[in-house]
Amino acid sequence: MLNRREFLQALSSSTVAASTLALGTLSAAISSLSMAQSMTHNMIAPATATPGFVPDVELELTARVESLALLPGQTTQLWRYVGTVLFGDASALSVLDNSHIPVIRARQGQKFRIHFRNQLPEESTIHWHGLHMVQRMDGHPMYAIPNGATYVYEFTVTNRAGTYWFHPHPHERTGFQVYNGLSGLFLVTDDNEQQLQLPSGEFDLPLIVQDRTFNASNQLVYLPGPPPRNVWMQGFTGQTVLVNGKQEYSRTLKRTAYRLRLFNASNASNYMLRWSHGADMTVIGTDGGLLETPVQRAYLSMAPAERIDVWIDLSQLPAGQDISLLAESFSPALSNVTATQTGAALVQGARPIARFVMDSEQVPTKALPPQLSVFPPLNLADAINTSSPRTVVLSMMQGQVLLNGRVFGAMDEYTEDEIVRAGTTEIWEFANNVATGMQMSHPMHIHNVHFKVIERIPAATESATARQIRAGFVDDGLKDVVQVLPGERVRVLLKYEPHAGIYLYHCHILEHEDLGMMRNFMIRTALANKPVATVGGALSSARIELGISDNNWLALTEELQAPANCHIMAAIQPESSHLGRQGNIIVVVSPDGGNTLLAVNGQGQLLPLDTSNIQVFSTVSRLTSRHEFSLFNGMMAIADRGVYDLFVGYTVDESRRVEDIIYNTMPLRLTVR
Ligand code: C2O
Ligand code: CU
Ligand code: CU
Repeated sequence: MLNRREFLQALSSSTVAASTLALGTLSAAISSLSMAQSMTHNMIAPATATPGFVPDVELELTARVESLALLPGQTTQLWRYVGTVLFGDASALSVLDNSHIPVIRARQGQKFRIHFRNQLPEESTIHWHGLHMVQRMDGHPMYAIPNGATYVYEFTVTNRAGTYWFHPHPHERTGFQVYNGLSGLFLVTDDNEQQLQLPSGEFDLPLIVQDRTFNASNQLVYLPGPPPRNVWMQGFTGQTVLVNGKQEYSRTLKRTAYRLRLFNASNASNYMLRWSHGADMTVIGTDGGLLETPVQRAYLSMAPAERIDVWIDLSQLPAGQDISLLAESFSPALSNVTATQTGAALVQGARPIARFVMDSEQVPTKALPPQLSVFPPLNLADAINTSSPRTVVLSMMQGQVLLNGRVFGAMDEYTEDEIVRAGTTEIWEFANNVATGMQMSHPMHIHNVHFKVIERIPAATESATARQIRAGFVDDGLKDVVQVLPGERVRVLLKYEPHAGIYLYHCHILEHEDLGMMRNFMIRTALANKPVATVGGALSSARIELGISDNNWLALTEELQAPANCHIMAAIQPESSHLGRQGNIIVVVSPDGGNTLLAVNGQGQLLPLDTSNIQVFSTVSRLTSRHEFSLFNGMMAIADRGVYDLFVGYTVDESRRVEDIIYNTMPLRLTVR
């Protein structure tokens, strides 16, 4: 696919594609696309509500600027999400602890439709951190919408019970937008979790830790921008640590068991968290949901974007006693900045950031079950690259923060070594190379998957601070962010499922992400050992056969040569469970490999890519046997010489997801001679 620059070049260097196809509609398509291009950051039309999609919960979420009383005195201007439940369970959307932070609650299996309205002075997108999304719903910066626009997110919650979240992910502005207040929780529950009867309702309390700096008139102060690289490379560390948006957070708790969902939602700072009364931290969950069995830590080390659910029994504490959550803060360079921050007086070198006063009321306490969950199968023995893990070298050089020596490039750019196969299990190794730059930790995040940390190989010489931080890691659970200490190599095990497409991996120090310490990787559909494309037949009517496998999407990399007047035939095999259902087959043709995408309708006519214009090529009910259909009948455009990209996709429920097909499918490059 062309990136934006190449696309614009293709436009200015005359309409090659138009003459190739000799279609009147095409030049019209090009001019309307180029208009869209100049209006927004990219040319992808925002997703709209799909008629066939029946949500269980429908929300509206507006991002806008507001002034709120955050500190005593003057109000603070914040960017926040405000929303309403349009349909479904009214408790699906609430506000955390009288703060500006929204909380979405979902049950596994529920279908969500969320109308995201951007009323910010700049473009934005919502990424559902930790949730499994098809590419177009993942909030990748390529899907950013401008001020005034709406993007409709539609998805089924397939994740296991856990603490997930959402935040903006626009190109180079994620740090700024999150810092200004945009992030929320997405809490998922499932049948297994319900059976455990963990503390719920008022006894299930998220505690979001974020540092911010305020000026004398209570306004947020961020790093100067556009980024002076040497400043941004340090990451932003604020002077005040807020919990649920409040400085010196304080609250009365009943003397019983609580589930506290600790979440470091800071841009760059690391924390070490412990209880003031000396109790251990009893950990029950991490980024990817509940642990199999609880584990204990004297303290917890949390990198940006990490979530740790803890369980605490307060039933033995006397009424009136108070306990505090003590925090030590570290910059990405691991310097302890606790003493330089403001707030309650230090206790044993740590800052009390949340104070809990024991109520006189006691509520019966249910013991913590010894078995919390069973992890989905993820076996080291299944890894296809045990002898040569996929290595991602983290480095800093000359004002750049790099992944394997590269920064984020074009929106849909990825390289050969960033292509993986859906359904396979692999080992990634994050190698923090401090030979050339600063000694810095990098919390690495991968979209669309959860992983297990299988090995940490510390630097040969490690600072006392790094060693101390290491002792507070919880590597026992499923994770989507892992802290990689200076000089350390961390190996993780993951499986690419359930979706194929372009996803991101990046450092979750948001200033690093915005500086480009982020890359795409492409999950291609698995098509192991299957002939996927063949050309045959008489020269005058070649027949091309396309196979569609699991995950709905076709993945083809082979380049085909075909004579003019070729006849294209697609074949779909009912191999995945999805294909046993009613669905639609959509074909998209992209002449000359360009972004000038056209869809093919049932009459074999090409239509410009405008989602309202897309027609489904063929609808099938229960695909139980090999389904063949011919794409082009009679005098079809494919008679013309030229280069074409063919995208063929099968959709279930969602009849018009053309972009899903384009971005989840590797095109078949076809040269007609
Ligand atoms: Cu929480 Cu790509 O990020
Ligand atoms: Cu994410
Ligand atoms: Cu980093």
